[in-house]
Amino acid sequence: MKKNMIAGNWKMNMLRHEARELTQNIISGVAKVKHDLDILLAPPFTSLDVVRGLIEGTKVKLSAQNVFWEDRGAFTGEISPAMLIDAGCEWAIIGHSERRGILGETDSIVRKKIKASLNDGLNVIVCVGETLEEREQGKTIKIVQSQVESALMDLELEDYSKFVIAYEPVWAIGTGKNATPEEAEHVHATIREITGNIFGQDSDLIRIIYGGSVKVDNIKELLAMDNIDGALIGGAGLNAESFVKIVKIAGE
Ligand code: PGA
Repeated sequence: MKKNMIAGNWKMNMLRHEARELTQNIISGVAKVKHDLDILLAPPFTSLDVVRGLIEGTKVKLSAQNVFWEDRGAFTGEISPAMLIDAGCEWAIIGHSERRGILGETDSIVRKKIKASLNDGLNVIVCVGETLEEREQGKTIKIVQSQVESALMDLELEDYSKFVIAYEPVWAIGTGKNATPEEAEHVHATIREITGNIFGQDSDLIRIIYGGSVKVDNIKELLAMDNIDGALIGGAGLNAESFVKIVKIAGE
C-alpha cells in the first residue's frame, strides 16, 4: 500500500534551540494521528542531531535537504549519503529548485546524487518543476518531462517506496501562489505516465508529491486528486500548528 507523505523542508531556517522547540511541538501534535502516513522533517544539517534525538520512537522520520554523490574524500563542504545515514537520515531531498536555481545544480548532478543515495540505502525525494517563464511559454510539461526522464535515466529501482518525486512549480514556492489542484494533477498524471512507461505498472508505488505554498487551506483539495500522494512543505512547516494540521488533514 502506498502511504501519503508529508515532508517539512525547513530550508535555511531554525537555530538548534528553535529546531528543538519546533520538533517537540510537532511530535506531540502528530502523536495521535492514527493513519499510516510518512511524516518527514528536513532540518538544516546543523540540527539533524537535535531532531534525531527527539523523533526516536515516534512516527516522524528524518530527511536531509541535500546530499553529495561521493562517499568520502576531498570534497570540502559536502556531505555523503553514508554520513547522512550515520546521522540518522532515512531520506534526502535532491534537486530542489533553490539548489538548481541558486547553486547551479544540473540534471546530471541531480542524477549522480540520486544514484549515490540509493546505492547507499538513502531514500530520495527528487524535485522537479518549471519556472514562471517556462510556464508562460507553455513549456511546463516539456520541462518536467525532461527533468523526470533525466532523473530516471539508467536507474534500477528495487523498491518503489524509496523513490519519491516532488512536483514543485518554481513560481509557487514561497510566493503564496499555488497551482490549482487540477493544474497540479495534470502534471502529476504526466509524471505517472512517464514512470509507468519506464518501469511498468508496479511503479504506481512511486509517490508523486506536490510542493509550492501548500497550507492548511489547500492540502485537502490537493490530496483529493488521483495522482497527488502527499506534499513537500516549506513555509507552513516552520510553524508547528500549521504543520500538524496539515498532517491531520492528510491522515483523514
Ligand atoms: P513553500 O516551499 O511551501 O514555502 O512554498 C515549498 C518547497 O520549497 O519545498
